[in-house]
Amino acid sequence: MKPRVYVTRLLPKQAMDKIHSFCDARVWEGDLPPSRNVLLENVVDIDGLLSLLTDKIDVEVMNRSRKFKVISNCAVGFDNIDVQEATKRGIIVGNTPGVLTDTTADFAFALLMAAARRVVEGDRVVRAGKWKTWGPMTLLGQDVHGATLGIVGIGRIGLAVAKRAEGFGMKILYSHALRNSQVDQELGIESVDLDSLLVQSDFISLHTSLTAETHHLIGPNEFDKMKRTAILVNTSRGPVVDNMALYEALRSGKIAYAALDVTEPEPLPADHPLLTLDNVIVAPHIASASVATRTKMALMATENLIAGLKGEMPPNPVNPEALRKI
Ligand code: DGY
Repeated sequence: MKPRVYVTRLLPKQAMDKIHSFCDARVWEGDLPPSRNVLLENVVDIDGLLSLLTDKIDVEVMNRSRKFKVISNCAVGFDNIDVQEATKRGIIVGNTPGVLTDTTADFAFALLMAAARRVVEGDRVVRAGKWKTWGPMTLLGQDVHGATLGIVGIGRIGLAVAKRAEGFGMKILYSHALRNSQVDQELGIESVDLDSLLVQSDFISLHTSLTAETHHLIGPNEFDKMKRTAILVNTSRGPVVDNMALYEALRSGKIAYAALDVTEPEPLPADHPLLTLDNVIVAPHIASASVATRTKMALMATENLIAGLKGEMPPNPVNPEALRKI
């Protein structure tokens, strides 16, 4: 008998074919995530779950099946999963690191440049029929080359952003819980504490995972320290920034601009105060959204799922100790 799994969204065909060949899979085919009730109904007695970052996978979900072996998240982030609980139960959790690094770093840089050079505002002006002539003072932005970039959290994606910034002749600073010697050696860039980074940077790009420690890491006190010309870029997780403090900082001119791929909440309601401001760009969490990368992520998540169902260590385990316990 094939193992029973639930897949919470349709993935690229190559991944779906693999899943169907190895598993007895039920698949949620809606464009929106399954509701909580649908999720709870469909995880009863399953062996494995292929989830997305939009699915909250907690004790209640895990309680629905005694056979649960694996939760494979099709994302590098896994803050939607109670990993501690999974580990206690010997459920292995997998994620998709590495394959989305460059695609996400490209997008962080796209946001940084779009904010610096007011690309989205320019597009709005043209579409509204307000472009009357070339103007010496029209939509003046900030130079990226030669500016100082502060990277908060220098894992794979932060490092990939640093490499791009190097090509633009930026001065790079980073803050991280631990010094990253690979970064120090490869790029010869400077590790500083968060406060110094906030004070010195023209651009601040967030690349930390969401944990209890990084929840609202950037709030009113942090905005107070930033330059009035600072541009904040967030492609990590929405709750790393206190959104209302960001709104206030942008509205009052405490900082110049923000470009966000992630928000709190997601999706950001169309009537959210942030969206009344011109000096903010909001993208709908698409930093990893290239055809090639999303296909790689789905295949990696599939491999994690199948390995976990076989009782093997998945290629990308988040909690390897879950299997070692058994
Ligand atoms: C992730 O993988 O965690 C990103 O946020 C979406 O690709």
